[in-house]
Amino acid sequence: MFLITLSVIFLAAQRVYSQCTPLPTPLPRFGSLTATNVLPNPFVFYNGTAVASPADWNCRRQEIKTILQEYLFGYYPDHSKETVTATRSGNTISITVTAGGKSGKFSATLALPSGATKDKPAPVMIVLGFGDSTFVSNGIATATFDAGSVAADSNSKTGAFWSIYNGQDVGVLLAWGWGFHRVLDALIQVAPEVDPKRVGVNGCSRYGKAALAGGIFDDRITVTNPQSSGVFGVSPFRFRYESGGWNERLESNVNGAGWWTKSNLKEFIPDEKRLPLDSNFLASAVAPRAAVWDNGQGDAQMNPEGVAGVTFPSTQAVYKWLGATDNVGLALRSGGHCDPSGTSNDIDFIKSILLGTTRTKNYANTSPYKAHPETYPWLTT
Ligand SMILES: *[C@@H]1O[C@H](CO)[C@@H](O)[C@H](O)[C@H]1NC(C)=O
Repeated sequence: MFLITLSVIFLAAQRVYSQCTPLPTPLPRFGSLTATNVLPNPFVFYNGTAVASPADWNCRRQEIKTILQEYLFGYYPDHSKETVTATRSGNTISITVTAGGKSGKFSATLALPSGATKDKPAPVMIVLGFGDSTFVSNGIATATFDAGSVAADSNSKTGAFWSIYNGQDVGVLLAWGWGFHRVLDALIQVAPEVDPKRVGVNGCSRYGKAALAGGIFDDRITVTNPQSSGVFGVSPFRFRYESGGWNERLESNVNGAGWWTKSNLKEFIPDEKRLPLDSNFLASAVAPRAAVWDNGQGDAQMNPEGVAGVTFPSTQAVYKWLGATDNVGLALRSGGHCDPSGTSNDIDFIKSILLGTTRTKNYANTSPYKAHPETYPWLTT
């Protein structure tokens, strides 16, 4: 029954996508793009036709995902060519992915809330990097994995992803995003105490950027939870508000950690205004699935005013138009970068999605920051 349902969904999705007008190949690079001083418009197709109805979103979202891969992440590996096998010993899950005669191995650690059983499975947050007991104490399992074992946070190209895909022009953020998905594949095989239909992804800072990639590139992810995620997460590329301090930017990320992204992203330094994407494309590529973004007001480097005043209203407009306004949340809080209070601030939203509880907090409050509609003038309603 499950397999039949899956193949029906797969065929339906194929039919929808095959009706989409393909983007030109190759897509234009820096020299033939024009600078724009506003966020790119999610409501117009690449060919200039208006995105008329929510039914068009499948095709527009595919375009946005292609643009994100072409300019930022590199191209996601063809999962249909991969075989994933998992074994479990207690709470340790060992994962082997094989493709093209090569294989890579890494592991994840499971933590279950009390009462999670095969007959009463719990939802699960897949966490990159630091574990957080807040989820488990709120009835949500966690499966935590280590970044370096999937892809080293350096140019060294070590880790499970590179054992298979060495030589490909893919950024480490996408490799980590792929890691979330392979953990989910493994959970489906060996962790019947978790429900593969209620799944979140979480990470903070560089792992928050990766959690957003994880949410974008796998529709099985129910709730995407990037924390203190900055540029390549939910902070705008084009708009900085530095009265509280210096903001992270494309240039600093590429110069500081060029391995996070596709190699030719550096063409856009220092002129990111020619990039045909911005944070609103990254955030909207998850829609209409749920997402809640953590940001500290004291974390100037992550540009909280840009997240609240630029990315949030421009992305919420997409969710609203899709009839899913409440599926995107902004979780502003006091404090700084990756503050331990972040998850407690997000949990009410995450529980509402994964456990169906009633939300008590307002996740559409951008205060103390004002909206900056001058950055998304295409939004007229
Ligand atoms: C533009 O692309 C969209 C989405 O693929 C398609 O529906 C539409 O027909 C295209 N318009 C033109 C003029 O080709």
